[in-house]
Amino acid sequence: MGAEERRRSVAIAVTGASGAIYATRTLATLLARGIHVELVVTDYGRRLLRDELGEQAAVERLMPYLTQKYGSDVSAGSVTLHSNRDLGATIASGSHSCSGMVIVPCSMKTLAGVAHGLSRTLVERAADVMLKERHPLIIVPRETPMSLPQLKNMVRCAEAGAVILPAMPAFYQLPKTLDDLADFMAGKIVSALGFDHDLYPPWTGSVAL
Ligand SMILES: Cc1cc2nc3c(=O)[nH]c(=O)nc-3n(C[C@H](O)[C@H](O)[C@H](O)COP(=O)(O)O)c2cc1C
Repeated sequence: MGAEERRRSVAIAVTGASGAIYATRTLATLLARGIHVELVVTDYGRRLLRDELGEQAAVERLMPYLTQKYGSDVSAGSVTLHSNRDLGATIASGSHSCSGMVIVPCSMKTLAGVAHGLSRTLVERAADVMLKERHPLIIVPRETPMSLPQLKNMVRCAEAGAVILPAMPAFYQLPKTLDDLADFMAGKIVSALGFDHDLYPPWTGSVAL
């Protein structure tokens, strides 16, 4: 890891769509690279962390949870936790040096807010800042099936410059556990943010049976 990468900070927003494990895996991977993470968790994002991963993954206990699950390497990075109601937070301004943002998982509600530039919450405002400053914005939507308004909202975000990276893990890596599936999604997210990773092996042209 170079000095340039060590200085980088990335915003991670966790909203109330299913797939909290994608968020924790992404967070742990970036922290292990020494990245500073600006973290925002919506009210329903907080609920999803607890509902899907247990009380030990509540936002206030996230660092011990990540250390226990993913190892002590996560201490290479650092986290600033922002309130989603704080529209005066650093990442609400284009003058902040945040180099990219991922919304993982992204609810259809937050997707709609970003698609229409509403900036009602810190998640929506920080995403809007990424788009206007032409910084990477990775949106990881999760819903099925999808309505036409939801599909159109994804197109709107893509047209504005966001990367739509649906929570759709692949099976050609022959995953055996939920963690394998989460590794695949986190690897895709980290790649889209411009970082290397070893969360899954590169495709070699055939399934490694
Ligand atoms: C257990 C649970 C699972 C949910 N899963 C999804 C989901 O996969 N996708 C989605 O768009 N909304 C989902 N929702 C609904 C959102 O949480 C809800 O629309 C909420 O208002 C989103 O707000 P937020 O974007 O501020 O987090 C779920 C809610 C709960 C309680």
